[in-house]
Amino acid sequence: MPTLTPLSLKDAPSLIERVFPAQKISAEAQKERKAGAGQTLTALGSYWKGRKPLIMVRAIVLGCLLPVTDDLEADLHIFEKLMGMDDEAFGRREPKLKVSEIAERITLANPWDYFDYTNKVYDPDDIEALQFPLDAGQYPKLKVRWQRGLADEKKYPLLAQALEGLSYEEKVGLCRRPEEIDPAVLYGPIWDEVNAHLGALGVEAYSHEELVEQLGILRYGHRPRVGDTFCGGGSIPFEAARLGCDVYASDLNPVACMLTWGAFNIIGANSEQRAKIEKAQNEVAEAVDQEITKLSIEHNERGDRVKAFLYCLETRCPETGWLVPMLPSRVVGTLQRTIAKLVPNHEEKRFEIEIVSGVSKEELEEAKAGTIDDIYLNYELDGKSYKTPIRTIRGDRKSSGENTENNLRSWRKSDFLPDKDDIFRERLYCIYWVTRETVEEARQDTYFASVTEADLDKEHKVEEIVASNIQAWQEDGLVPDMPIEGGAETTRLHRERGWHYWNHLFSARQLHYLALTKSKISDPSLYISLAKTLNRTSKLCTVDPRNEAAKREITIQGVFYNQALNTLYTYGVRPWFMAHPQFVEDTKQFRIAEVDTKIDCIPANKLEKESDIFVTDPPYADAINYHEITEYFISWLRKNPPAPFDQWTWDSRRALAIKGDGKDFKQGMVDAYRAMTHHMPDNGLQCVMFTHQDTGVWADMVSIFWAAGLQVVSAWYIATETTSELKQGGYVQGTVTLLLRKRLDTASTFKQRLLPKIRQEVQAQIEAMLNLNDAAQTHGETVFNDSDLQMAGYAAALKVLTRYTEVDGRDVTTLALQPRQKGETTVVDAIVEYASEVANNLLIPDRLKALNPDTWREISGVERFYLRMAAIEKTGAAKLDNYQNFSKAFHVEYQPLMASLKPNQARLKGAKQFKPRELTSGDLAGTLLSELLMAIQELLNDKDPKVVLGQIRTSLDDTYFQKRLHLMAMAHYLSDMWDGARPEEAQKAEIIGDRIRNEGI
Ligand SMILES: C[S@@+](CC[C@H](N)C(=O)[O-])C[C@H]1O[C@@H](n2cnc3c(N)ncnc32)[C@H](O)[C@@H]1O
Repeated sequence: MPTLTPLSLKDAPSLIERVFPAQKISAEAQKERKAGAGQTLTALGSYWKGRKPLIMVRAIVLGCLLPVTDDLEADLHIFEKLMGMDDEAFGRREPKLKVSEIAERITLANPWDYFDYTNKVYDPDDIEALQFPLDAGQYPKLKVRWQRGLADEKKYPLLAQALEGLSYEEKVGLCRRPEEIDPAVLYGPIWDEVNAHLGALGVEAYSHEELVEQLGILRYGHRPRVGDTFCGGGSIPFEAARLGCDVYASDLNPVACMLTWGAFNIIGANSEQRAKIEKAQNEVAEAVDQEITKLSIEHNERGDRVKAFLYCLETRCPETGWLVPMLPSRVVGTLQRTIAKLVPNHEEKRFEIEIVSGVSKEELEEAKAGTIDDIYLNYELDGKSYKTPIRTIRGDRKSSGENTENNLRSWRKSDFLPDKDDIFRERLYCIYWVTRETVEEARQDTYFASVTEADLDKEHKVEEIVASNIQAWQEDGLVPDMPIEGGAETTRLHRERGWHYWNHLFSARQLHYLALTKSKISDPSLYISLAKTLNRTSKLCTVDPRNEAAKREITIQGVFYNQALNTLYTYGVRPWFMAHPQFVEDTKQFRIAEVDTKIDCIPANKLEKESDIFVTDPPYADAINYHEITEYFISWLRKNPPAPFDQWTWDSRRALAIKGDGKDFKQGMVDAYRAMTHHMPDNGLQCVMFTHQDTGVWADMVSIFWAAGLQVVSAWYIATETTSELKQGGYVQGTVTLLLRKRLDTASTFKQRLLPKIRQEVQAQIEAMLNLNDAAQTHGETVFNDSDLQMAGYAAALKVLTRYTEVDGRDVTTLALQPRQKGETTVVDAIVEYASEVANNLLIPDRLKALNPDTWREISGVERFYLRMAAIEKTGAAKLDNYQNFSKAFHVEYQPLMASLKPNQARLKGAKQFKPRELTSGDLAGTLLSELLMAIQELLNDKDPKVVLGQIRTSLDDTYFQKRLHLMAMAHYLSDMWDGARPEEAQKAEIIGDRIRNEGI
């Protein structure tokens, strides 16, 4: 038996440089994303957006470590086993299938060795002799169930068999995510095969940790260390550690470092540590609760307890001088049909707010109209309507340049309430209660009530406590005293409310219990609990009254349900009683192996620690303003943090954050990646993820890595597609995963010399992948789809380019950092364009190639796009993502060509759906495709084919002769593609094709 020889794989290519099942990983990544709050690390703080899916990280790290052998197919198979993504694994991933469905789907000669039945109808001998698949039509009353006590190991192969024939996505849809299955069950059976495959290298492993350690020794001489200098929410280091790598994580932002620490030390804690954390959480939460209860500020005289305090702003109407509550809607809760009634108080020129439940449907409907919309204060008094723009109330006016100023008072450092004469005041207008008897029950009795004098007394009591303590609290770091620096997200807080310190975002009650909580924290894991609680407690928490599905009267949203700091006219304040559950909320637990985990809070360019592999997801272009948003938390956490957080700089260091896409961004990125390149061995690997937007982003990113001393080796595209109500239409995201190695030599070249080499490399790469596809097709599978091929095309071109340090006499760093001038194309732009061109030329749809191999070359981007997508539609695929990618590749605007833009039901327009104007303008104008589509329309309108063909000839004039064969190929092609889904149009296309063929020219 061979033993491990350290460094024997030192220079061996990694699996991910050659193959990567990007489609399957995309399906798994999307499933993970769809789990929403069920994602493992989200539990530490849903306010951190954009965590990378763990399954994707796992695939990348494994793909970087595994070697390629002389059998790529077998390598891929083993990789899938290690990911729990092979066919057999699905049997162990607990597919949601009824036993009756299984019986109908599997072939089994001896079903009663596995299943039992209840039969009251059929001949017992017939049933005894039955074989599966069960014909449910013949035996509808036969009840089948698993044999009692049947070992799971016996069920798994049958479950896997039952899933055969389904697409990968369908299987993923029916099964659990690999991380949800006990590793012993999911991976237990794979090790013999893995060891047999890698045995020649001396590998003998019975867990991922063992395997990873051994692969590390083969490649680097030790357990591999994975680094991430933009660690954010910690997905990359967490998953790498879970796989068994040593990890190094760093980020500029202390909140990111804290969350990454939480991933290792809370999610990854062992049971004993977890018990300790839970105990500490409960002790703090209970101690705060006792103090609150003693003050009796969340209870009424009956002993009922508050579930939510509802506040609104109030302002004086300039027209009437009345004080008007600013309520976007007067509906309070829909289940108990509760509304707020405004009762005029003429004496005091204000409205009493009466909370009424059990109103009629009509009254509820009527109450949807509040007193404010985004632009106007709009209310009725004594039968007359008054409407004043908010900007008039605020006194908005232009100051210098684009800036506006207004009459809002700037709040002072220790303010926590508006002044009596402020333009916007705050008012408690309703309280949502739970009865004393049902406080502890799962089904609580709740009610809404108007605010009473007694309630107001309690409000004042809290305000007095805060007023007399806030300065001391600020000095002691128990409450923020940090100014709100202006920025893309934060200037709004000045402009819309006059808030200038972060404490202004919190009500008196919140300041009170948060200060109490913070004063009791000494354990770092409770800092994470506090941040979670903060996300649920401020004046930026919306009250959503429409949670009928959850049978909940109201939901108070988190601050960062999106990625903005939005001011509100009405907001909900949770009492401690309701904030408490967030504080003590349980999270998942995953054991992390005994690996070394190190976290630094530093800018990426200051890296000092070595890693063998860097996997990063850098900040770029349109990404989230982490540096601004996190100041919301930093303002609370920055003073006296518990160890080890006291080692970090509790400041967002905005000036050092890499952001935007201009020169500073590029310089920041080059410096960061140069530091990483200098801190990895010569055989180290880097994997960078970024959103696939357009060739411009590609060119910028590649220029950066190139200048940082890296060379492209491959690229994959992972789709993560989700709909979001916050964005119109489909919100589609795809991630490019770019693999890079250190460039060890210097060389110079000329652009003209590069182009033929690039053509060759792109062609060779795509053809190699197509060959692998052909091989896999014998098992009815496609390894690579068109997006993969395209990505690989880009990567191949860039692989050639990034070998050089000088092009046309210009040094790469100069090239990379030159600012992008409007209308100008850089060398990298030109290369990416060229690569895309070469790749697209090779991506000719098979059927069109068979009809006329020259047509593809003759037609324009929009025509290629349409024909290519028609072929994809024929396979039943309907993902908007595909259309978006191809539109980028073919440089077309795809929206005008689409009948549906739904993320998972996207569809091209057929001939019928195009308006005449759409065929004669835009990209389609003057193309053969538009001629063809118009002709099909005419035939659908029963025009004589002869006349229609005559029109085409007239229109194409003397180019007709040269183009007719392509037109014919396209017509026959579309006829084939549409056959089935658009039969009428397919038939007309065929008529045109046949007519051209039979013209007898
Ligand atoms: C796209 S996020 C990373 C998300 C992370 N992969 C995850 O799964 O949560 C980018 C990160 O870069 C950090 N960052 C921005 N500028 C930085 C700099 N100069 N040095 C180090 N980190 C920086 C941000 O704080 C942010 O956490």
